[in-house]
Amino acid sequence: MSKPAIQITDVSFSFRVSDSGINSLREWLMRGSRGLFPAKPVLKHIDLQIEKGSCFAILGRNGSGKSTLLRVISGIITPDNGKVEVQGRIAPVLSLGAGLEPELTGYDNIRLLCTLMGFRPKEIRFFMPQIAQFSELSESDLRMQVKRYSTGMMARLTFSIAVASQPDILIIDEVLAVGDAGFQEKCYRRIREINQQGATIIFVSHSIHDVLMLCNQACVMNDGRITFFGDVKDSCDIYTRQFQT
Ligand SMILES: Nc1ncnc2c1ncn2[C@@H]1O[C@H](COP(=O)(O)OP(=O)(O)OP(=O)(O)O)[C@@H](O)[C@H]1O
Ligand SMILES: [Mg+2]
Repeated sequence: MSKPAIQITDVSFSFRVSDSGINSLREWLMRGSRGLFPAKPVLKHIDLQIEKGSCFAILGRNGSGKSTLLRVISGIITPDNGKVEVQGRIAPVLSLGAGLEPELTGYDNIRLLCTLMGFRPKEIRFFMPQIAQFSELSESDLRMQVKRYSTGMMARLTFSIAVASQPDILIIDEVLAVGDAGFQEKCYRRIREINQQGATIIFVSHSIHDVLMLCNQACVMNDGRITFFGDVKDSCDIYTRQFQT
């Protein structure tokens, strides 16, 4: 049997003050009176296996650790302990605008991100029209600095770059929610196509409707732990039950 796309073993991670930064004089002075800020445990002994070709949802209330886990899987954050094994190339579509350079134009951001993903200039020239076409951003939009983009335009650009790069693992953290209805529908079709071609999808969304429509397996996170793993319908039931009193 082939190895899973993602194998996470006993992963823990805490944010420290240096990760969040000291933003005010008051915080700086407080630091003196209390000594070092305590580390904040955000992922606690996570074990998770995601099979190749699955479309996997991660559910959980705000602050439960979903985005942090995705950043660990993407290699952006190194866990304090535990092991993350990934088979294949990941294209992460994380928080809005993440990875985009605000001062550069849309076109230059495409070139930059494709270069960082390891594509050669010839391949980038091949992908460029596909990315532009999928994003439905106009020529003048793509020549504009990304700092002038609306949130939906940023989502269009990052998602279009990620899917054009033909990843083995596509990670999507909520960003599609800001796209308009037409673009969302198109993205879901594209995600299904990529999944049918064998790629693994990891999808974070608070929309139960979208999770049920798209995913075939899921887990629920609670306060930095995985409290349920398995069937997508059961996961959605457990997630929504948390909010019923
Ligand atoms: N840069 C940071 N510095 C310190 N703490 C952080 C940082 N980023 C996230 N956290 C903390 O980590 C915890 C988990 O955050 P995370 O963003 O992973 O949650 P989430 O499940 O993605 O939530 P949401 O549904 O709101 O997106 C939260 O308590 C949050 O305050
Ligand atoms: Mg999040």
